[in-house]
Amino acid sequence: MKVDPAELGAERIYRLMSGVVVPRPIAWVTSLSGAGVLNLAPFSAFTFVSQKPPMLAISVGRKGKDYKDTAHNILANEEYVIHIADSPLMKAVHDSSVEHPADISEVEVLGLETLPSERIRVPRLAAPPVAMECQFRQCLEFGESRSRLIVGEVVMIHLRDGLMNDGKVETHALDPIARIGGPRYARLGEIVTLNSVFQTPKSTD
Ligand SMILES: Cc1cc2nc3c(=O)[nH]c(=O)nc-3n(C[C@H](O)[C@H](O)[C@H](O)COP(=O)(O)O)c2cc1C
Repeated sequence: MKVDPAELGAERIYRLMSGVVVPRPIAWVTSLSGAGVLNLAPFSAFTFVSQKPPMLAISVGRKGKDYKDTAHNILANEEYVIHIADSPLMKAVHDSSVEHPADISEVEVLGLETLPSERIRVPRLAAPPVAMECQFRQCLEFGESRSRLIVGEVVMIHLRDGLMNDGKVETHALDPIARIGGPRYARLGEIVTLNSVFQTPKSTD
C-alpha cells in the first residue's frame, strides 16, 4: 500500500503520522499565563535537540484559529517546566489535555501539588519523577497548520531520589509513559541490550 500525503487532509495526515511515529515520550508542561494562572498540558511531539546546553523541543498545534495556551504562555514569559510522568500519573496526564479556558488551571482542577522552581518563576509539579526547568530559546512555525516548534534550554533538572545510578537514569525506576494515539498509551516493555557498536557522544571541548 502507498499513501500520497498530498491527497490527504490535515486530520487524516495527523492520524497516519501519529500512528507511525510511536511510541512518543510525553512532555508534561506547566506554564504561567499573564494573569498568573498555572497551566498544565501534555505534548508528545517532544524530543531533545541539543546536549550542551541541554535543549528540548515540543511542537504545539492550534485550537481553531488560535494557539494553545501553552504556546501563548511560553512566548509571553519565556519560562516553563517539562515533566516526565510515570505510570501512576497516566490518568492525570490524559485528563490534563482537556481544553479548559485560559483562566482555568488544570493543576487546580486535578488537585496536583506544586513546588517552587529554583531558576524560574513557573512552579513545578511535585509528583512526577523528573522536572526540567526551561528557558525559552527559539520558536519555528511549520506547514499550513503553522504548528509551533518551541525550543527551550533546560536550566535545572529535578530527579526523584534513586533514579540515577552511576550517572545513568534507571529506566525501570523512571517507569515512563508514552503516547500511542487518542486515549492509548504505552508503558515500558522489555529492554533489549545489544553489544555496543558506538559510544555515547563525548564532549567536544
Ligand atoms: C498524551 C497527549 C499528548 C499530546 N501531544 C500534543 C502535541 O504534541 N502537540 C499538541 O499541540 N497537542 C498535543 N496534545 C493535545 C494538548 O495536550 C491539548 O490540546 C491541551 O488542551 C493543550 O492545552 P493548552 O491549551 O492549555 O496548552 C496532546 C494530548 C495528549 C493527551
